[in-house]
Amino acid sequence: MVGFVPTMGFFHEGHRSLLRAARAECDVAAVSIFVNPLQFGPGEDLASYPRDVDRDLAIADAEGIDLAFMPHVEEMYPGGTPEVTVDPGPLAQRLEGASRPGHFRGVLTVVAKLFQVVGRSRAYFGEKDFQQLVLVRRMVNDLSFPVEIVGCPVSREPDGLAMSSRNVYLSPEERQAAVCLYEGLRAAAKRVHDGDRGVEQVVAEIADRIDAEPLAELDYAAVVDEATFEDVDRLEGPARALVSATVGKPRLIDNVRLDPA
Ligand code: PAF
Repeated sequence: MVGFVPTMGFFHEGHRSLLRAARAECDVAAVSIFVNPLQFGPGEDLASYPRDVDRDLAIADAEGIDLAFMPHVEEMYPGGTPEVTVDPGPLAQRLEGASRPGHFRGVLTVVAKLFQVVGRSRAYFGEKDFQQLVLVRRMVNDLSFPVEIVGCPVSREPDGLAMSSRNVYLSPEERQAAVCLYEGLRAAAKRVHDGDRGVEQVVAEIADRIDAEPLAELDYAAVVDEATFEDVDRLEGPARALVSATVGKPRLIDNVRLDPA
């Protein structure tokens, strides 16, 4: 079995955990490093997206990865911006999709192309981009790709901040403030653990924590069904709490599982 980890590079511990899982579970382990222009909107950080290919290759090597695929933009999109793309469907209009129009069309289009290159395989995605993970699973089911999707837990800094390549944009003060996303989610998970089943209160718990942080601005807080990504009214089965907020320059996202059992 081929284990495949699609990435945009600038590796951190989150990427390493995906590389390790692919290495441990598969005969051949491959990574792709490609900053995909199609998934960046106008005014987003395509030009400044952090890159360090030499360091990434050294990390891939240290993790025992057999193969790194690092195409140029012209190789991936030889005819320029593609006219035929993957329609990500209605789920992609919500949350991240509402804030970043066109983003998931770009993600699914490049992931579909990468899956064509790699073929039958097991592909590893981080749960930090939870909506992306759900959409990739759906694409694989709906379009019958011969790829098994594996979701891997969010990797966190010691204070709980979800690891992200974009964390390098944070100033020291913003870096301290950024932990409010995880703190809000943790408070929400505790509320559910303590018996609260009302989604409104859970969402308010997250929003209140972000609103209390002067350097952060809430984009959304939501609770969705884990499998369908539909909104839920009451917590009766496993669900995900998701949050997005701008802290200084970057928009950060994070999520945790809510387990009412
Ligand atoms: O999660 C990412 O790094 C990207 O969205 C992906 C899946 C590599 C597609 O460009």
